[in-house]
Amino acid sequence: MRTFTDKVAVVTGAASGIGQALATRFAAEGMKVVLADVDARSLAEVERQLVATGARILAVPTDVARAADVERLARRAVDTFGAVHVLCNNAGIAGRPGPIWEQSLDDWETTVGVNLWGVIHGLRVFLPIMLEQDSEGHVVNTASMAGLVSLPNLAPYHATKHAVVTISESLHHELALARSKLRASVLCPGFVRTRIMEAVAPASSDAMRRWEAGYRRMIAAGMPPEQIATRVLEAIREERFWILPHPETKVGVEIRVRSILEEQNPAFQPFFD
Ligand SMILES: NC(=O)c1ccc[n+]([C@@H]2O[C@H](COP(=O)([O-])OP(=O)(O)OC[C@H]3O[C@@H](n4cnc5c(N)ncnc54)[C@H](O)[C@@H]3O)[C@@H](O)[C@H]2O)c1
Repeated sequence: MRTFTDKVAVVTGAASGIGQALATRFAAEGMKVVLADVDARSLAEVERQLVATGARILAVPTDVARAADVERLARRAVDTFGAVHVLCNNAGIAGRPGPIWEQSLDDWETTVGVNLWGVIHGLRVFLPIMLEQDSEGHVVNTASMAGLVSLPNLAPYHATKHAVVTISESLHHELALARSKLRASVLCPGFVRTRIMEAVAPASSDAMRRWEAGYRRMIAAGMPPEQIATRVLEAIREERFWILPHPETKVGVEIRVRSILEEQNPAFQPFFD
């Protein structure tokens, strides 16, 4: 998609972090922006800030894990702005650190609900609308470097992010085979300075608390979300599928792929010491 002015963007998880930065950047490009988030209070605050800049904004409290909420989001977007050109399936949660045998049914269902079903609902509901328009458009799914490597103690997160990567690749192929005007990208950042760790439930042991503290340190020192938004905008403009804003994390992908190709047992490059 080359031009952004007056186009419509829908961003989930828009009340904080990467989603907020995407929404702010799209609004600055002259787009109409639909903000969706489960945190209604933060959502209203971001809406207020963006409206104050003169942006055309619709805020819709939405739990992306719930099919009916995402269907309502799409109806509100189309009723208000008449079309959807950019969809960012971005809402996500980290889940509780711990080995697989300590992950409860609720841990799995919560993370899979937001990170995987959220993306599935977004695609299932919005793609028919965007295809029907037969105009230029772009879908950006937020995965993570966690979708390209497999580290210990966050299996539900890794599982959902790997799923988002493969779904995005399938989407890319399917759009190309259908000669669609739509394009797809998958965003796989390393650490980004956001509020993602604020929603994490308490870890179950001292070892996991240390692990969690490592993540918190890395997130606090992470890339500003505005830089991620710039990379996403460039990728949409240049129709690039892979968005990997942290080149230093690619060595982990290389180690994983090499171990697969050489049929060696998995090794991993830790994100932190
Ligand atoms: N921060 C990082 O280091 C990092 C790295 C890689 C990928 N990501 C991914 O980026 C995305 C955005 O996360 P962030 O880092 O900006 O975190 P964040 O917590 O700052 O923002 C996430 C937003 O999603 C919302 N949200 C959570 N559950 C929701 C639901 N069920 N329905 C709708 N909205 C919901 C939250 O309320 C929040 O406003 C996530 O998918 C995350 O996995 C983050």
